[in-house]
Amino acid sequence: MGKDVIIACDFSSKEETLAFLDKFSGKKPYVKIGMELFYAEGPSIVKEIKARGHQIFLDLKLHDIPNTVKKSMNVLSRLDVDMVNLHAAGTRAMMEGALEGVTRPDGTRPLVIAVTQLTSTSEERMQEELLINAPIDQTVMHYAANAAKAGLDGVVCSPMEAGKVHETCGAGFLTITPGIRFADGEKGDQVRVTTPAQAKEIGSDYIVVGRPITGAADPVAAYERCIAEFVG
Ligand code: C5P
Repeated sequence: MGKDVIIACDFSSKEETLAFLDKFSGKKPYVKIGMELFYAEGPSIVKEIKARGHQIFLDLKLHDIPNTVKKSMNVLSRLDVDMVNLHAAGTRAMMEGALEGVTRPDGTRPLVIAVTQLTSTSEERMQEELLINAPIDQTVMHYAANAAKAGLDGVVCSPMEAGKVHETCGAGFLTITPGIRFADGEKGDQVRVTTPAQAKEIGSDYIVVGRPITGAADPVAAYERCIAEFVG
């Protein structure tokens, strides 16, 4: 599986998103559609971007009972997306249900990726509110291992965790890594960041890049810089 750069299209309307993608003229970057855009515009935005020839990571982070996740994943995979995700906290039964749901009649299916602990959850909150008494890095690796055992394709994690995830879950288990910044760029609200080149060195399979591209004066040049550093 080739390494790629996924652009986080964190826009709230179809117009803004398509105007952004129009800047890429002939190029067809891999696009991440999150809750904000999906809830604003519905499945039609996915169909439209797909029809333009982009690969799509539909980042809706499902978490419900196994039967509901299975049926919902079936609906989402019919949108012909390339990657979907869910919360590993939903248990292995839920992840296995998701995998049953995503299979399309022609035998193909999107990659199914797990979110472990959100980066917004601190170890203190996790222990005090969720009563998970293990250290957070151990919890993250344990959730990743559960996802691998359930048959999922990979996890969303920090590039800094990518090497450890590959050690724990196997080299073929995918690491999708946000928290990417250029060496000379703004960090924004991201705390632990790596450059595209560092993410490549540590072994990320896909980097997810939002504001360094969407907020750049020249988004196409910023995207190409990511490709040059990460894919080479
Ligand atoms: O703009 P920026 O490059 O920070 O965007 C990163 C994208 O990755 C956003 O869509 C954000 O929601 C997502 N993400 C993240 N950290 C996680 C999981 C997802 O930044 N742990």
